[in-house]
Amino acid sequence: MAVIAAFAGSAIGLGNIWRFPYLVGENGGAAFILIYIAFTLILSLPIFLAESVIGRSSQANCRAAVGFLVPGRVGQMFGLLMVFTPLWVVSYYSVVGGWSIDYLVQACCLDFVHATPDQLAGGFERFIARPWLPILFHLVFMGITVAVVAFGVKDGIEKFCKWSIPTLFVLIVFLVVYSLTLPGSFKGVEYLLKPDFSKVTAHTFIDALGQSFFSLSLGTGIVITYSSYVKKNENLVVAGVGTAVSDLLFALLAGFAILPAVFSAGIEPGAGPTLIFDTLPYIFSSLAQHAPILSTVASILFFLAIFIAALTSSISLLEVGVAYLTEERGFKRGWACVLLFVLCGAFGTLCSLSFGPLSQVKLFGLNLFDFADSTASNVLMVLGSLISVVLAGWVMPRKALFHELTNGGVLRKNARLFPLILFLLRYVAPIGILMLVLSSVL
Ligand code: PHE
Repeated sequence: MAVIAAFAGSAIGLGNIWRFPYLVGENGGAAFILIYIAFTLILSLPIFLAESVIGRSSQANCRAAVGFLVPGRVGQMFGLLMVFTPLWVVSYYSVVGGWSIDYLVQACCLDFVHATPDQLAGGFERFIARPWLPILFHLVFMGITVAVVAFGVKDGIEKFCKWSIPTLFVLIVFLVVYSLTLPGSFKGVEYLLKPDFSKVTAHTFIDALGQSFFSLSLGTGIVITYSSYVKKNENLVVAGVGTAVSDLLFALLAGFAILPAVFSAGIEPGAGPTLIFDTLPYIFSSLAQHAPILSTVASILFFLAIFIAALTSSISLLEVGVAYLTEERGFKRGWACVLLFVLCGAFGTLCSLSFGPLSQVKLFGLNLFDFADSTASNVLMVLGSLISVVLAGWVMPRKALFHELTNGGVLRKNARLFPLILFLLRYVAPIGILMLVLSSVL
């Protein structure tokens, strides 16, 4: 359970609460969900298994793990890429984590329930454009992340995930129940259950696949690093399926917590990335007129859930770099954490400023934050996933792969599934990834 909790901690995050509901809103509700589930089972799960095999068989940080399979310069570069990606991601991810702290504070100060909906309009834009507060909260978020990781894998990460993941499920179930009791919420439920295939375009497929990779934290070296701590007698297939199922379940619950409330307030679901930070305070404020206490509690619990979910993911992102620095560069864990806090804190600060004073600085037409996000999800994570499947499917000897997935042949069920897993790994996953690349280039 501890293994699944840690993996699920990495998987369940802003991707589930922030990204998933707005993508569902933009892409025809249930139709998107069905495509997303199919991609997760057919493509993402095998990639997850590939990464966990690479990690556990090497018992080493991801630079070394990749280096065992591809010796020399190329292996070195691939490995370092997988150390770099999560550090790149955690820098801007913790900016959003910082927003969740700020919103939690505002919810606790009853700011949302006391304001009229009109006063809240455009509040998110105003908030991120003011430079200092978001930077402060970004650094606080980063500081908490570093503190958990500094305690180590057993005493920090594992303990934290073991209580926070069940807590998150309790919070989200409460929010689902709250949302479903709102007047007019059934329209949201209908939207989530009745597929509207007319809204499905080529983009829906790209969004679903990208979201599935992002949500399972693939291509970032996290699964490799966490798996290197997994004992030899654990069942990797069970861990993978457990993680994918809890991640899917949480995303669906988040959808049922958010979209019925959005429909109940009579708001269009296709608001895009600002859906939870702009729309939800507005909803809490309008609902406060009928049920002030319940709205207050719901608003606090909502932003608390976002904060915890973001934290369990950011600690996994940071651990990849810490594992590399401690195992390969002779750093003490504490100093590795301090160094990464400085580096990622500084880069994240620039990303945060790109909504305000640095908004004119553009790279490929994007501000720094959007540039960081799109290079991560469209390039780095895709490349990392491709490297992993090719390594596990084609470079690693078939026997070694079989050995790792079946614990030396002991796990009979996994042995029976092996041909299917191998087929998905060798053919289906690389083709799926290449399709994703092609469609984003074309
Ligand atoms: N999986 C996390 C989420 O859904 C995000 C993440 C991406 C974490 C990549 C680690 C690596 O929010």
